[in-house]
Amino acid sequence: MKIAVAGTGYVGLVTGVCLASKGHEVTCVDVDENKVKIMKNGDSPIYEPGLSELMKEHKNNLVFTTDYEEAYREAEVIFIGVGTPEKQDGSANLSYVFEVAKQIAQTVQRDCVVVIKSTVPIGTNDKIESYIRDKQKNKDVCIYVASNPEFLSQGTAVKDTLCASRIVIGVEEVFPGEVLKKVYEKFDVPKLIVKRRSAEMIKYASNDFLALKISYINEIANLCEIVGANIEEVTEGMGYDARIGHRFLNAGIGYGGSCFPKDTKALNWLANFNDNEIRTIRAAIEVNENQKFKLIKKAKKYYDDFLFLNVAVLGCTFKPGTDDLREAVSLVNVPLLLEDGANVRIWDPVGMENFKKKYPNKIQYCNSIEEAITDADICLILTEWEEIKNFDLRKYEKLMKKPIVLDGRNCYQLEEVKKTNITYDSIGRYTVNPQ
Ligand SMILES: NC(=O)c1ccc[n+]([C@@H]2O[C@H](COP(=O)([O-])OP(=O)(O)OC[C@H]3O[C@@H](n4cnc5c(N)ncnc54)[C@H](O)[C@@H]3O)[C@@H](O)[C@H]2O)c1
Repeated sequence: MKIAVAGTGYVGLVTGVCLASKGHEVTCVDVDENKVKIMKNGDSPIYEPGLSELMKEHKNNLVFTTDYEEAYREAEVIFIGVGTPEKQDGSANLSYVFEVAKQIAQTVQRDCVVVIKSTVPIGTNDKIESYIRDKQKNKDVCIYVASNPEFLSQGTAVKDTLCASRIVIGVEEVFPGEVLKKVYEKFDVPKLIVKRRSAEMIKYASNDFLALKISYINEIANLCEIVGANIEEVTEGMGYDARIGHRFLNAGIGYGGSCFPKDTKALNWLANFNDNEIRTIRAAIEVNENQKFKLIKKAKKYYDDFLFLNVAVLGCTFKPGTDDLREAVSLVNVPLLLEDGANVRIWDPVGMENFKKKYPNKIQYCNSIEEAITDADICLILTEWEEIKNFDLRKYEKLMKKPIVLDGRNCYQLEEVKKTNITYDSIGRYTVNPQ
C-alpha cells in the first residue's frame, strides 16, 4: 500500500521502516532537514538497535522527504507520529499533530485514512477528524481518522514493532478498520479493534500503570533500606505471582524518557480538567520526582558537599539501549553536582554527544569507564548499561581515589561487591562496607 508517515522520531521512523519491511511503499516526512539528509544517505538519525540495518535492507520501499505535499497527496494511509510534549500545566501539546492535520487537509487528493500514532488525550481523534473535514481543500475525497497508539520501548523499538504485544486499532466506522487490518496483514500479532476513545485510553492507562508499578516498587525499596529487607529478594518473591510478574519491578532512581513522565502528567491533567481526581497517578508522579534525587541524598552520608570533588557519572541516557536524554535523571543530577562545585566526568556509550549539546563545557567527557573513575572521590551510576554491569569491580577499588560507588540501578550483586573494599550503596539493599 502507499503509506506516508509524518515525523521520523523513535515512533515514526521505526513505524515507517517496519511497514516498508512488510512490502509497503513508505514515504517518511519530517520538517527537520538535517534528519532527512541523514536518512537520504541511508543512515538513521537516532540510535535504535537493528534500525539502520532494516532501513538499508528495504531502501527500495522507502523515501525520505521534507515535501509533505508530495508525500500526502496520493497516500492511502497517513500515519501521524509527531511529538506531543508536555506543556507547562502538564497537558499534552497537540500543536504538532494539528499542524500535520492542517497539511493533510490542504493536500490530500484521494480517499485516505489518517492514523494517529502519537499519544494524544482522549477525544483528540474526534477533534482531528472534525478539523480535517472542516478544512479539507478537496471536498470530493473522504478522509477518515483512526487511532493506533504505539507501545514500543526505545532500545527494543524494532522488535517491539515487528513482534508487537498487540496492535490496537480505534475506529468509528468499518472502512478505516478494514484498511488498517490490511496495513498490518503481515504482522502476526494480536489485533484489537475498539472505539477511538478506548484506543486513546488504552495507551495512557497502559503507560501510567507501568509508571505506577515503578513508583510503587521504588517506595517499597526505600522502606526496605530502613527496615533491613533486600528489595531484590522481595521482588523475586513477588514476581512469581503471575498476577504481579517480574517485569517492571526493578527498583531504581525513577523513570524518565519521553513517555512515562509526560503521559502520567497528561492523564492527571485530563482527570483534573474533568473534575475527576486520579490520585494513584498523582502519587506515582510525586514519588518519581523525589526518587530522582536519591543518590545525591545518599552522597551526603559521605561528603558534606561536592566542592572540588571528582565525581564520576556512569550513564546519562534515560535508560540503556537509547541515546535519548529526555527526562533522564542525569539532567537533574548533573546540574546539582556542577552547582555544588564538583568536577564532573561522564561516561556513556551513546548518550554523550546529546549531553554535550546541553553542556558543552564544564564537564569532562570520557572515552571509557576507567577514564571516568580514575581519581574519583565518588561514582554515581545512573543508567544500567551492560558495559557497567560487566565492569570489573576491582577497578573501582584500584582506580578511584576513594572507592565509593552509589548505584542508582542495582547493577551489581551484593555478594560480588563484598569481595572488594568498595563502599557500595544501592537502592533498597544494605550498604556494603559502610563508612
Ligand atoms: N518514544 C517512544 O518510546 C514512544 C513510544 C510510544 C509512543 N510515543 C509517542 O509517539 C509520539 C512521537 O514520539 P517520538 O519519541 O517518536 O517523538 P520524536 O520527538 O522523537 O519525533 C518527532 C518527530 O516529528 C517531527 N515533526 C514535527 N512536526 C512535524 C511535521 N509537521 N511534519 C513532519 N514531521 C514533524 C520532528 O522533527 C521529529 O523528528 C509522541 O506522542 C509519543 O508520546 C513515543
